[in-house]
Amino acid sequence: MIIEPRMRGFICLTAHPDGCEQNVKNQIEYIKSKGAINGAKKVLVIGASTGFGLASRISSAFGSYASTIGVFFEKPPSEGKTASPGWYNSAAFEKEAHKAGLYAKSINGDAFSDEVKKQTIDMIKADLGQIDLVIYSLASPVRLDPKTGVLHRSTLKPIGEKFTNKTVDFHSGKVSEISIEPAQGDDIENTVKVMGGEDWTMWMDALKAENLLADGATTVAYSYIGPSLTEAVYRKGTIGRAKDHLEATAFTITDSFADINGKAYVSVNKALVTQASSAIPVIPLYISLLYKIMKEEGIHEGCIEQIQRLYAERLFSGKEIATDEKGRIRIDDWEMRQDVQDKIAKLWQEATTENLAEIGDLEGYRKDFHNLFGFGFDGVDYKADANEMVAIESI
Ligand code: NAI
Repeated sequence: MIIEPRMRGFICLTAHPDGCEQNVKNQIEYIKSKGAINGAKKVLVIGASTGFGLASRISSAFGSYASTIGVFFEKPPSEGKTASPGWYNSAAFEKEAHKAGLYAKSINGDAFSDEVKKQTIDMIKADLGQIDLVIYSLASPVRLDPKTGVLHRSTLKPIGEKFTNKTVDFHSGKVSEISIEPAQGDDIENTVKVMGGEDWTMWMDALKAENLLADGATTVAYSYIGPSLTEAVYRKGTIGRAKDHLEATAFTITDSFADINGKAYVSVNKALVTQASSAIPVIPLYISLLYKIMKEEGIHEGCIEQIQRLYAERLFSGKEIATDEKGRIRIDDWEMRQDVQDKIAKLWQEATTENLAEIGDLEGYRKDFHNLFGFGFDGVDYKADANEMVAIESI
C-alpha cells in the first residue's frame, strides 16, 4: 500500500515501515562511525522500541556487540493498517542485528505486568544466563498495578496554582497562550505510580530474585530536569514528582544491589522530540527554540548522539562515573549551559506566530516529528508500494 502520514494532534495514525527501517539504519551507522565502546555485553532494554530506549539498544548492540532483549508495547500491523512505529523500528533492529550475527529477541506486551516480567525472566534464563545492563526507558500515560488491579493515569499538570504560558501548535506554527489547571485529588499519586520508580524496583527485584543479574550489574533509568521556563508544568509539576521518585529509587536499588556489587543510576537527558515529549504542553515551543540555539552552536544531539555520549563518556569510559550533587548522570549538560539557556529565555519573550519559523527551529521540530513515524527520510521512496505486514523475527 502507499503509506502517507495521517496526523491527529500530537500523534500520527500511520507509520512507514521503510522509513522506520531507514531511521534504525541511520542510527546504526552513527554508532558504528563512532567506534567500539567497551560496554555491557548482555543487555535488557525496557522500553526498547522508540526514543531513548531504541537508541540504547542500538548503542549496546552496534557499539559493544551486545546481546539484547527488548521489551516494548507496540501495535502490530494488520492488512491495510500500519503498525505503530516502534513495531517497525524493532523489526528493522532485529533484522540488522541478526545480519551482524548478534543475539536479539523482543517481547511485545505490558512491561508493568507480572506476565511480561515472567516472560522476560524465562527468556534470560534460556538464552543469556545473566544480564549486566538494564536500561529502563518506559514512557506511558497509564499503568495497571499488577498487585491491586487499579489502572493509574498520569497527568501533566502544575501543582498548587494554575500555570499560564506560551505554547505552539507545531503543525500550524501558531503560538498561543495556554492555561493548565493545577493537579487535584490523586493526580500526583497517580503520576508517581505510572512514571515513578515503583515498577523499576519491581523489575530489579524480580531479576535479582532469580539470580539473573551478573556481578557488577548496572541499571539506568532516564529523567529530565529542564529550565525554569518549563518548570511549573514539568519539573515542579506532577511529572516532576514522578521523576523525583524515580531518582530516589536509584539509591534504594543500589542498596539492594550491595551483594552483587551492582549500581543503579538515573541519567538526566536532553529535551528531544519523541512521542512522549510532543504530548507535553509548552515543551514543543521550548524544544524549537532549543534546537535553533544548539544547532547554531554546533552542539545539537538527537537520541542516538545522546546515548552514544552517555555510554562512551560516562557509563563505559573506564573512569569514575561523574554525577551531580544528587547522584545523577548529566547528559543534559549542553542543553543546560548558561549561554544556551540565556538565549532561549530571550527568544521565548519574543516568540510569536509570525516570527517563530525564523527565530526558532520549527522546521527541525516538524522534521523530527515526521521522522518518529518513518516519514521524511532520504533514500525512501514514499510513492512506492510498501509492505505494511512486516514481522519482527523473534516474535
Ligand atoms: P518514547 O515514547 O519514545 O518511548 C517509550 C517506550 O516505552 C517505547 O518503547 C514504548 O513501547 C514503551 N512502553 C510504553 N508503555 C509501555 C508498557 N506498558 N509496556 C512496555 N513498554 C511500554 O519515550 P522517550 O521520550 O524515549 O522516553 C523514555 C524515557 O526518557 C522516559 O522516562 C522519559 O521521561 C525520559 N526522557 C525523555 C526526554 C524527552 O525529551 N523525550 C528527555 C529526558 C528524559
